[in-house]
Amino acid sequence: MDANDTIILEVKDLKMYFPIYRGLLQTVTGHVKAVDGVSFSLKEREVLGLVGESGCGKTTVGRTILRLYDPTSGEVRYHRQNGEWVDIARISQKKMKPLRREMRMIFQDPFSSLNPRLTVKDLIGEPLEIHNIAHGREAEEKVASLMRSVGLDPAYMRRYPHEFSGGQRQRIGLARTLSLNPRLIIADEPVSALDVSVQAQVLNLLQELQAQLGLTLIFVAHDLSVVEHISDRIAVMYVGKIVELSETETLLYHPLHPYTEALVSAIPPADPEIQPNRIVLQGDVPSPANPPAGCIFHPRCRYAVDRCQQELPALQEVEAGHYAACHLAKELTLRGIGGA
Ligand SMILES: Nc1ncnc2c1ncn2[C@@H]1O[C@H](COP(=O)(O)OP(=O)(O)O)[C@@H](O)[C@H]1O
Ligand code: SF4
Ligand SMILES: [Mg+2]
Repeated sequence: MDANDTIILEVKDLKMYFPIYRGLLQTVTGHVKAVDGVSFSLKEREVLGLVGESGCGKTTVGRTILRLYDPTSGEVRYHRQNGEWVDIARISQKKMKPLRREMRMIFQDPFSSLNPRLTVKDLIGEPLEIHNIAHGREAEEKVASLMRSVGLDPAYMRRYPHEFSGGQRQRIGLARTLSLNPRLIIADEPVSALDVSVQAQVLNLLQELQAQLGLTLIFVAHDLSVVEHISDRIAVMYVGKIVELSETETLLYHPLHPYTEALVSAIPPADPEIQPNRIVLQGDVPSPANPPAGCIFHPRCRYAVDRCQQELPALQEVEAGHYAACHLAKELTLRGIGGA
C-alpha cells in the first residue's frame, strides 16, 4: 500500500489470442481469446488485486505483461526508474532482458517453480550470479540476509526444496524473487496451493515486504477474500476482460457489476453467526474460444435485458475511479458485503 502518484505501468487494450490447431495439417480453426482487450494502469507502490474464476485469463495477463508471451495486440507501457517509457509489447527480447530484473513473477506452485536439484543457497543465489550482482562470499551473505527477510533460518541454506514445507517453499521462492531488488512483482495465486493455516502467514509476509520495500504488486487470486486485505484496488476479470475496477472498499461495499456482486456474496461473513447469503451463478463460464455475443456475462446474469444479448458493454468510468462494463451500471443497486 502507500501508493504514490507516479504511474509505473499502463496496459492498453491488451489482447492475447492463442491459435487452435486442428487436423493433420494443423490448420488454425479459431482462437482462444484468453485476454481480450484489457486496460488498466498501476501506480508506483500500489497493490492491484486481479480476481476472477479459473480460466478467465489472469495468468495470461501476467505472463503477457512480462513478455513471456508475445501479445496479439495492445500496449504494455512500463515507466523505468530513469523516467524512460518502454512498450514491453514491442521491444526486442534483448532490450527486455535488463527489465526482467525489475519485473518478476511469483508462481502458484512453489514446488514446480524451484529446481529440486539446487540447494536453497543456489536457488536464491543463482539470480545474483546470473545478473552479476554478487559472487562467492558476498553472494552467500546476501542469501542469508534474504532468507532472514522472508522468515527462514539461514542455517538451512544447504538444504534442498523437498526438505521444506509448502509455506517455506513459497518463502524460498519469494527470497529468490526479491534477490534482484525488483520494482514490480506479479504474484500469481501465490497462496492457492498452500494449506489455509499457512496462507495468512505468507500473505502477511508479502504485505509487510511490499510496504517495507516499496514494491508495486499485482496480486492474482481466484477469490476476493484472498486479495481484499492486501489490495489498494481490485480488478475483476471475466472471460478475458476486466468487468469492474475500483478501490477495494468501494468494490466490496458498492459493486457496480452483477458478476462482482456474486463474487462478493461468496466472501465468508466475518461473524460466523451470520448466515452467508450467497448468489449462486447458474450455468458455466463460457469458453474464451467462443464467447457469447453481446455482454459476455449475459447468459448467467439475473438482470440481463434484451440489449445485453446484442451489445457489448465497454468498461466505463461510472463514478470517479470506479469502472464497470455493464449497460445497467447506473441503474442497478447491487448488494455489497454485509448487504441484505
Ligand atoms: N499457452 C496456452 N495455449 C492455449 N490456450 C491457453 C494457453 N494458456 C492459457 N490458455 C487458455 O486461456 C484461458 C485463460 O487461461 P489462464 O490465463 O491460465 O486463466 P486463469 O489464470 O485465470 O485461470 C483458458 O481458457 C486457458 O485454457
Ligand atoms: S450488461 Fe446486462 S448482462 Fe451484462 S452484466 Fe450488465 S445487466 Fe448483466
Ligand atoms: Mg492462473
